[in-house]
Amino acid sequence: MSITLSTLLDLKKKSEKFAVMTAYDATFAYEMDQAGVEVILVGDSLGMVLQGHDSTVPVRLEDMVYHTASVKRGARNAFIIADMPFMSYGTPEQAMAGARQLMQAGAHMVKLEGGAWLCDAIAHLSRQGVPVCAHLGLTPQSVNKFGGYKVQGKEASQAQMMLDDAKALEQAGADIILLECVPTKLAKQLTEEVSAPVVGIGAGPYTDGQVLVMHDLLGVGAGKKPKFVKNFLAGSDSIQAAFKGYVEAVKSGAFPAEEHSFNI
Ligand code: KIV
Repeated sequence: MSITLSTLLDLKKKSEKFAVMTAYDATFAYEMDQAGVEVILVGDSLGMVLQGHDSTVPVRLEDMVYHTASVKRGARNAFIIADMPFMSYGTPEQAMAGARQLMQAGAHMVKLEGGAWLCDAIAHLSRQGVPVCAHLGLTPQSVNKFGGYKVQGKEASQAQMMLDDAKALEQAGADIILLECVPTKLAKQLTEEVSAPVVGIGAGPYTDGQVLVMHDLLGVGAGKKPKFVKNFLAGSDSIQAAFKGYVEAVKSGAFPAEEHSFNI
């Protein structure tokens, strides 16, 4: 059965968790779909895991369009979210032009990084029938402003701002909120206070959905993995089994565990 935004809203209402993974091509998208992943994110993390850059900043809209179209050809049932790349949604007009290309390539939703300043762009997209995911917390396109990949929302004032941003974005039309690297307590409160499904990565176990970058989940790639990552291929006898293991662990609440979360 095809997953839609309504499916995800129903899961939130029933307090049932859903699994999200990144994919960038047709073959892995197919395998994830078969494993029961509800949502596939064509993340601009492809700039790091496919292209070898040290951040997502160099990723171009044409890269995202190419990979979104590839994922669409492999996915049968999953809901597909595509990232809008760095500096491609500064104005509502820019956001709409980029979203048009991504939606026509096969995305069901686009994802933008940032807080309440995105409200105008999101309202425009929403009015034109484009579902939007708003990414808060550690927004990797702003890594140069943050001075590194750091947990966000540790201070009370920052945490309050994130709660206010999430509510403003939802009010503007955001349909999903994604939280990256935020303390568990804040992610829990935010998940309870918005109606939109909340997806977490490094945000503890209480969000409605969980997302991991596929390469992290398979334990491949250079460099030290962040605390919130678990290698699901270790102990599995195939990639398909690793994907299924991840989906089961998210749905049962076994992942993320305490050691994958920031309990600040
Ligand atoms: O680009 C990406 O893969 C993402 C996830 C880290 C959430 O935005």
